[in-house]
Amino acid sequence: MFGFHYRLERNTIGFVLAVIVAASIGGIVEIAPLFTIDETVEEAPDMRVYTPLELAGRNIYIREGCYACHSQMIRALRDEVERYGPYSLAVESQYDHPMLWGSKRTGPDLARVGGKYSDDWHVAHLNDPRDVVPQSVMPAYRWLSRTELDSDDLGLHLKAMRRVGVPYTDAMIVNAENDAYGQAAPGSKRAPGVAERYGEGTNIRAFDGESDRLTEMDALVAYLQILGRLTDAAYERKTEAEE
Ligand code: HEC
Repeated sequence: MFGFHYRLERNTIGFVLAVIVAASIGGIVEIAPLFTIDETVEEAPDMRVYTPLELAGRNIYIREGCYACHSQMIRALRDEVERYGPYSLAVESQYDHPMLWGSKRTGPDLARVGGKYSDDWHVAHLNDPRDVVPQSVMPAYRWLSRTELDSDDLGLHLKAMRRVGVPYTDAMIVNAENDAYGQAAPGSKRAPGVAERYGEGTNIRAFDGESDRLTEMDALVAYLQILGRLTDAAYERKTEAEE
């Protein structure tokens, strides 16, 4: 065995060929699954895209490093499914650029936190986690309620997402800033357009409790409340499995 290797190392051409063969095997193992990606990624015709406000919230989530303590991927293991709900499907992250699956869990997984708590709970929790969970080690994010959301580049942001494959329409891009305001101000003139463009099921609420100001808190809570709710695919799969 070692004799063969010794001779191979002294034969330049042979050694180069052997390296190419070894590297190709590694390459094929990584690339081959991509050939079947259309069959492995589930269908979710009801899946909607993030609204501009939710997308802004997602950016704040990334900026504040929430992903350092929270994963967004429920594994297909019994303890995870019992704690968090149906395991995550690939299709649920199809519009996530970059994805935030993660593996570090100082806090709980957030893939299905949408709808678990009220907006008020999230606002109180983000202002000071100890107010609602006395033993929490999560940091407080008090400035989110005080900081007005930067919204003038949202149209460009949607455009960039479209470039990487998220199906935003021209109307969504043109109205991005208006829709961000509208989603956090129910009853305002800008609100109906949000439901029209993103679907009747879209959460249109004063997420931070005040509808006259658009804050970073509005955006982050809007994002948290939609996690795991962009499609029902995972829930439908669960009912199928139970039948
Ligand atoms: C230092 C680690 C850490 C960071 C950073 C962190 N969290 Fe947490 N988070 C926790 C821990 C621990 C808990 C569990 C205790 C609690 O509920 O406060 C938690 C709980 C939560 C919950 C409740 C989850 C549930 O199902 O009960 C939400 C929502 C949440 N965090 C959102 C965020 C957001 C948004 C950010 C970023 C702005 C963030 N966290 C940053 C550690 C962290």
